[in-house]
Amino acid sequence: MTVKEALELALRLSGLSRVPADSGVLVPGELEEKVLFAIDVGVAELLLAKGLGAGGVIAHHPPGGQPRLHWHRVLWRHAELLTAYGVPEGEARAAAGELVQEFAARDHTANYDHVPGAARALGLPLVGIHTPLDELGRKRLVAAVGALSPKATLGELLERLSSLPELGNAATEVELRLGSPDRRAGRVAVLHGAGTNGGYPVAACAFRHGIDTVLYIHCSQAAAQRLAEEFPDKNLVVTGHIASDSLGINPFLAELESRGLEVIPLDVVKP
Ligand SMILES: [Fe+2]
Ligand SMILES: [Fe+2]
Repeated sequence: MTVKEALELALRLSGLSRVPADSGVLVPGELEEKVLFAIDVGVAELLLAKGLGAGGVIAHHPPGGQPRLHWHRVLWRHAELLTAYGVPEGEARAAAGELVQEFAARDHTANYDHVPGAARALGLPLVGIHTPLDELGRKRLVAAVGALSPKATLGELLERLSSLPELGNAATEVELRLGSPDRRAGRVAVLHGAGTNGGYPVAACAFRHGIDTVLYIHCSQAAAQRLAEEFPDKNLVVTGHIASDSLGINPFLAELESRGLEVIPLDVVKP
């Protein structure tokens, strides 16, 4: 399997119709029989792959090139998710636009060829697969939340989420950053698979349009604090970054293995 074929496989599994801006082949080539997978890939992980005899490397977070520079473009998916939860399109796009602006400035500073340059020097095929795997994870979160009664409390929601093997096995907990366990979860919006969490603007937009509980995989304390001050009756659940990234990664790694590839996963929570 080539790195391009691995990316195409992830795309098919996710149901996305084209390669998102935060994903792509950085160094083309054949994975051969062993591949190293890591959520975060730097030069150290490339050397590790070489030392362990892997034919290539698959990264989750964009390790360089156009996927790293264009990471912020997938934040527009927050507008699509909000719209699907009934938020008027203009307001959804305004909220996502705030994030895009902030992250575009961050991405512009990236040392985008550092890791791909090292991979080329080592002769190691390298691919970044971000949003397709998060989309797989998002669907698992949506299924878990959807199985809950409309009258469920936040405590029951947390329990249901923690029953997902990766979230249960992780060293992190599913946390309630806003709200209390005895409160009703109400209308829950799973906002994941859109580049990164939607911070204050996306959650605030959801809360203003009938969503009672926002689910992010991670969120800064500054954003959670601001939401708590402005929306004391709303709720914010944070499922854990690496645990939740693993939700989408594991089904993909299982598919690679079923095709005869040996996968060395470095930082993934096992199901
Ligand atoms: Fe992710
Ligand atoms: Fe992540």
